[in-house]
Amino acid sequence: MKPPAADHAATPPVTASPQRMTVPKFAALKQAGRKIAMVTAYDYPFARLVDAAGVDAVLVGDSMSMVVQGHENTLPVTLDEMVYHAEMVGRAVDRALVVVDMPFPSYHLGAAKAIEAAGRILKETRCQAVKLEGGAAQADTIAALVKAGIPVMAHCGLGPQSVHQLGGYRVQRDEARILHDARAAAEAGAFAMVLECIPAAIAEKVTAALAIPTIGIGAGAACDGQVLVLHDILGLSSEGPKFVKRYANLADSVTEAVRGYCSEVRDGTFPTAEHEYK
Ligand code: KIV
Repeated sequence: MKPPAADHAATPPVTASPQRMTVPKFAALKQAGRKIAMVTAYDYPFARLVDAAGVDAVLVGDSMSMVVQGHENTLPVTLDEMVYHAEMVGRAVDRALVVVDMPFPSYHLGAAKAIEAAGRILKETRCQAVKLEGGAAQADTIAALVKAGIPVMAHCGLGPQSVHQLGGYRVQRDEARILHDARAAAEAGAFAMVLECIPAAIAEKVTAALAIPTIGIGAGAACDGQVLVLHDILGLSSEGPKFVKRYANLADSVTEAVRGYCSEVRDGTFPTAEHEYK
């Protein structure tokens, strides 16, 4: 098919810029030996900032359910809500790869429904790939999505969507199961894999066993890359798990700034003449 004439394209294609991170370029970072930095974002202003800061990938994570929507776990967020937030991120990012979490239970209802849900994400958001939790149990679904041209990032180790089955967010230590899951997801066609909350030594073995990049969260330094929740990095969430490192304390800065504003409004020092129209 002939590509559309430039003057017909209202929005430049996602892959238009030579600097744009694509799925194949992302997957090749492992062979190049370049560590991968990924972070979550859920809206336009933060997505622009993290893209400009130089991350390799932005994850529109279902952690949004907790850090943005205030739920106690990741189960309540809906496909419509993921699409709504992924649209904002998709509009903001023009350099990094953008991956969107498939919410619970959108990929547990058979391959056709999974393709429908993931297809919506790709059609409506300008994002490039989806992520889903699970290894061997999701291998058929991953293969069906990949066959449909939908790039899949797998997620092994701790799957937060299984919180009730696991009885909490616990470190996963079953090496044989984790290796089996990771191999099954990679063989099914996943282009990369998040490893969450597993001992560093197991993550190192998984990373060595796979040709695709592993992105760790609470999985140690041997992973090919790292991912963290943006609100944890920025100090916008309450005390996080052990694996979180805070690089800023924005909660204090925001509270301080809003306190200053309230007090100036109340004592009449804001606004002044410089904020007025003549
Ligand atoms: O939803 C999310 O933020 C995630 C990361 C924790 C990997 O899945």
